[in-house]
This record gives sequence, structure tokens and C-alpha cells, in this order.
Amino acid sequence: MQHDARGLVVTIRNDSALEPFERAIRAFQTYRGDPLAALDEALSRDPDFAAAAATKALVLMTLFERRFADDALAVLDRHAAALARATPREQALGAAAALMARGQWQAGARELEAILVEHPRDAVALQVAHLIDFVRGDALNLRNRLSRVLPHWSREVPGYAYVLGMHAFGLEECNQYPQAEDAGRSALEISRDDCWAVHAVAHVMEMQGRVDEGMAWLEDRRADWATPDNGFAYHNAWHLALFHLDRDDHAAALAIHDEVLAGATELALTRVDGTALLWRLRLQGAEVGDRFVPIADAWESALDREGGFYAFNDFHAALAFAAAGRQAPLERLRDRLREAALSAGDNGPMTREVGLEACEAAVDFAAGRFGEAARRLASVRDGASRFGGSHAQRDLLTLMLVEAATRAGERRLAAHYVAERLIHKPASALGHRLLARAQPSERKAA
Ligand SMILES: [Fe+2]
Repeated sequence: MQHDARGLVVTIRNDSALEPFERAIRAFQTYRGDPLAALDEALSRDPDFAAAAATKALVLMTLFERRFADDALAVLDRHAAALARATPREQALGAAAALMARGQWQAGARELEAILVEHPRDAVALQVAHLIDFVRGDALNLRNRLSRVLPHWSREVPGYAYVLGMHAFGLEECNQYPQAEDAGRSALEISRDDCWAVHAVAHVMEMQGRVDEGMAWLEDRRADWATPDNGFAYHNAWHLALFHLDRDDHAAALAIHDEVLAGATELALTRVDGTALLWRLRLQGAEVGDRFVPIADAWESALDREGGFYAFNDFHAALAFAAAGRQAPLERLRDRLREAALSAGDNGPMTREVGLEACEAAVDFAAGRFGEAARRLASVRDGASRFGGSHAQRDLLTLMLVEAATRAGERRLAAHYVAERLIHKPASALGHRLLARAQPSERKAA
């Protein structure tokens, strides 16, 4: 009987396949290198390595694109015989991947949670479930799923830092900022390369409006997160750009867009960051030139395949199309959203309850119908966690709402939402600038 590095039994015929399997898990945990290539290496050494096959399908699903769902199902099909002979844990990993590939993300997370009850050190089940919690905007489980397994982890177990890093992010999304920062810093004391922990602490500083500290935090640790092989570097760079935007430094934010995000249009995950950054710049009155053209092109070329798969991505596609004045793809996206709203998977309610209206708000805003955009955004903003993303990402909805209300002349409405933002982030210079623009006149306030 063979065991992996965390002591879990694995069904394996060729022990030499374990080394690339562990390398894949390390790559998945650190967002460095290519876990899929390492898993292919493990499977080439042992085609019956069920855990490697299931892990490959799960890692593909964490990219949350329809094209990878098809790939995941193909992997599971190719290794079906090996999975049928494997342990219940390995079979459950495969079953979770199949559920996710069919759009049943919540059911997939439940399958993974059942694994964690019996095997709380299953690093793959834990991280994939954490990422499902993220795309479902399930803040409680972003924290609590980690809390439930933490007693079974310690410094002696390989990968402990990454568990602390995930817990840090969950604590942050539950607004427990001091605890989140402590957990993130503890993770980094063990593994400086934990870019998820770097990210969690950056989120704390973003949410608390600690702009100078946030910039220093990311700049000082550049060598740990901004390496070329780090797939998460794009998102941490996006966070750095947000700090620049708070200072009203458009040139620095644009430089991050141009140097890091503009060339990263292949994956929806990075297109989301590039699109959101350009929209935030636009909201602050920056001149973004023709930068929406290539990113709208990228969303458009993926539209027929990906439209209607995940509402959070669709919203960002709508933002890009609206900003670039692309009417035809907007109509195609609308059709896909209407179909998706009726679908049985988890994306159905996300689209129905948030996605459709948020996309229409983007269209209204870009067309200059600011009053209508503000009303639509106000109607979905408070429940927008249902379509996933972080508090920081969804702040875009608030920023759009405030700007739409300001441009519509509805200054009391704008000031109403700025007040909320300033209470939570009193040190944010952006918040004070928004308030200055939105402050009701003496006559209106009377
Ligand atoms: Fe983030």
C-alpha cells in the first residue's frame, strides 16, 4: 500500500509516479508551474493512478471555463476503469470533478466535504472546495471549511502554510481582518511563496483602506509572487493597481495593466482582472484609449463557447463589450444569459438573481443611461455575493453605482452609498474624492 506526502492511501502500480504527483500538488498550492503537465507525467508513468486522474479533472475545473469542463470529463472517461478500482476517497474525487463539470458546483463541494470528514488532510479536496466557495461567493465556507480541518494540520504536515493561507482569505471575506492578517503572516513565516496568503493580507489592507501599507506589502514581496511562472501574479498585480487607484495614480495603474494584464487574455480569470481594472480607471475619469479593443476581442472569441457558463465572467464580458461599443456580441451574450438563467446548474440562479441585471446595468452605463444603471445596480448589489468573487472585486458594482448616480444628478443616492464605503474604509482617499463629487448641494440637502 502506498501513501502520499500527507499520509493518504493512493492506488498506484508504479511508485515513480508519486514524485510528479506531489510536484503537481505543490504547483497547485503555490500557483507556480504547471500542475497539469506534472499530472500528465504521473499518468504517463502509471496510467492507472486514479488520484492523479481525478486531480487532473479537478484542477481543470478550478479554471471555471466550459472548455475545461469538457477536458475534465474526457480525463475521467479515459481513466474510468482505474477510478472504479480505486479507494472510496479517490472515487469521490472523481465524482466531485464530474459534478463540477456538469455545472453542479455546490454538489461537487458537498462531495469534497464528505472526503474531508474522513480525510481532513486531503489537500486537493480542500483547495478545490475553497475555490468553489470563492466562485459561489460563499464567505462562511471560505472560512469554516478550513476551520473544520485545521485541527488535523500542523507544521509537520507538508503544505500546512497553504491551509493557513486559505484560512486567512476566508477570515478576510468574513470581515475578521486582524485574525486574517495573523493567519496570512503565519502562513508566510512558514512558506514565503504562499501567494494566496500574500493575497489574503493584501485583501485585508484593501478592505481597511491601508493603501500605503498595501503597496509596500506587495512591492516588498514582489520576488515571492511576481515570478513569471506564477499564475496568480496577475491577480496580485491587480490588487497593487487598486492601491494606485486609491491614490488617483492613473499612470501607475495603467502601467500595471499594460505590463501585466494586457497580455493575459487567454484565461477568463485574468480577463476578469484586466476588464475590471480598465473599468475602474474609466470610472475615475482616466483616458484608457483603445485598451478595451483587445480584451473585448478576447471575450468575443470565447463567447460562443463560454457565454452562459459562469455569470461573474459574463458580467465582465458585458463590461468589455459595452465599453468597446460591441452591440452584436452583447446581443449574443444576452441570449446566452437568458438560456443560462433557466439552466439547472448553480449558474442558473447566479445569472437569474444577479448576472442578467448586472450585465444590463453595464450596457445602460456605457450608453449614458445613468439613472437606469444606478437603479439596476442598487437592485443587485446587496445580493451580488451570490455570483461569486471577493468583496474587493464586487466593490466595482458599488463604484459603478456611485458614479452612475452622480452622473445622473442623483447625488443623494451617490452619497448614500459612499457613506457606507467610507465607514468601512475611512482612510480611503478614493472614498473622500467620491464623497466630494457626490455631496448633496445645500439646496438638495435641505
Ligand atoms: Fe483578490
